[in-house]
Amino acid sequence: MQTIKNKAKIRATTQRWKSEGEIVAFVPTMGNLHEGHLKLIDSARQHASKVVVSIFVNPTQFAAGEDIDNYPRTLEQDSTLLAERGADLLFAPDNGEVYDTTLDDQTVVEVPGLSTLLCGQTRPGHFVGVTTVVAKLFNIVQPDVAIFGEKDFQQLFLIKKMVIDLDYPIKIIGVETVREPSGLAMSSRNNYLSDQQRQQAALVYQRLQGMLASLQAGQQDFRKLEENAAKILERDGFSVDYVSIRRSKDLQEASAGDTQLVILTAARLGPARLIDNIKLELSGTINLS
Ligand code: PAJ
Repeated sequence: MQTIKNKAKIRATTQRWKSEGEIVAFVPTMGNLHEGHLKLIDSARQHASKVVVSIFVNPTQFAAGEDIDNYPRTLEQDSTLLAERGADLLFAPDNGEVYDTTLDDQTVVEVPGLSTLLCGQTRPGHFVGVTTVVAKLFNIVQPDVAIFGEKDFQQLFLIKKMVIDLDYPIKIIGVETVREPSGLAMSSRNNYLSDQQRQQAALVYQRLQGMLASLQAGQQDFRKLEENAAKILERDGFSVDYVSIRRSKDLQEASAGDTQLVILTAARLGPARLIDNIKLELSGTINLS
């Protein structure tokens, strides 16, 4: 696997590949790779003949006071994992290579409205940073296909919308969340947790599954379900940003009668902010028992 830090060289390489008839898949990451990231590489392999991965801890998606300085950086270990998993090219730029103006002058890409909901409410500016860097990375790599995890459901949703709205000729593929045996969604931020907190963190997915079971049993009072779940998580030691049942097609608040749903949550435990979600489809029949 080749590692390149320079954006002109990346573009030249992928353009050459494409002119030779190769299909290029792209997996953007912030590194500290785990099995969740590596499943995206496997999916990329299934959709393309060349796999490009980026590792870049993007400063514009961290708000002041967030964890950018402590964010785990493990480039050497990551590059071994990527080579073993069959990636062809690693783009590992430094800040100046990606942002060559001061950050205050940077042109941004924003999906209006949707980027201020849910995680956008507790992390103002976060999604503008994400869509801006992903737009830039798409222009640098110029892939045919790009792969994202469903763990970051709102991020995936916004990127799909950006690609449609800005006519990027890129197919976006979502990959199911990879979990620890305990059910905890894998995340680089789980490294901030002690062993005991890691066990406790598995309660987030258990709570989502509890909500799923209630919805499938016919519970139609979505607000009550959200409130109860948040209360239980708080009692279990989490500081809850939100628990929300949304329509999966537009991320708006769901109400009785909606059938294509996603339950999303963000909760802080000690030093880590954990997010998770479950997608579900109700049959549409109301259970009156
Ligand atoms: P990062 O958190 O490193 O995640 C990179 C990709 O891996 C994202 O698409 C994310 O959804 C996916 N991912 C992370 N954990 C996963 C899991 N347990 N199962 C499946 N997929 C998982 O998301 C980002 O970086 C950044 O915001 C980025 C898109 C790179 C822009 O800077």
